[in-house]
Amino acid sequence: MTVSLCVFDAYGTLFDVAAAAREAAAEPGREVFSARWAELAEIWRQKQLQYSWLRSASGIHTDFWQVTENGLDYALEATGLAEDGLRTRLLQLYWELSAFPEVPATLDALRADGRQTAILSNASPAMLGAAVKSAGLETRLDAWLSAESVGAFKPALANYALVTECFGVARREVLFVSSNGWDAWAATAFGFRTVWVNRKGEPLDRLTTPPDHVVGDLTAVPGIVKAL
Ligand code: LAC
Repeated sequence: MTVSLCVFDAYGTLFDVAAAAREAAAEPGREVFSARWAELAEIWRQKQLQYSWLRSASGIHTDFWQVTENGLDYALEATGLAEDGLRTRLLQLYWELSAFPEVPATLDALRADGRQTAILSNASPAMLGAAVKSAGLETRLDAWLSAESVGAFKPALANYALVTECFGVARREVLFVSSNGWDAWAATAFGFRTVWVNRKGEPLDRLTTPPDHVVGDLTAVPGIVKAL
């Protein structure tokens, strides 16, 4: 069965999740922050993810914007970087994240080859809509699906079923692409074909179902789809 649909995770996969902190650090008057923005960005991301998993495991749900704010507040206190206006600026920039450079050409190549393209993300619909628009991807995607309608974040498997329900496709027709090893793992367990985008050269997660493919960025994805 060939792949008719390529589905991408959002943050870290299409959108550069560190861009908010990197861009704020380059602004005038942020000399202290500019020396440590990467540390803050890493803690912010890790806490955002941990809080999403803990919320899902406990059943005490909130939306992804709330866990994004909570993760940032933790990171600002942990690093002691809570300077004037920084929190507000970082949250503002999070709504305008840039896409990784290879994203437009990758989506264009897939679509030119007759495949549909979509996002499946934990982000709230408003966050996703803003990111897609600011990165200029509206015409390059058939849909952007949010975990918000499930009420539990990925890797809860009900989220991956949103894709098959929305597009009316079989699981094996879907190639799911994520920079999060745990996300690719769950998508493989669900029955999708999967690509893990290992941008940082991290070790493979020790979980039950490894991804089918591992790449360094998205440029190899159209070739992988063609070969399937
Ligand atoms: C997302 C996060 C997990 O976009 O990266 O769903």
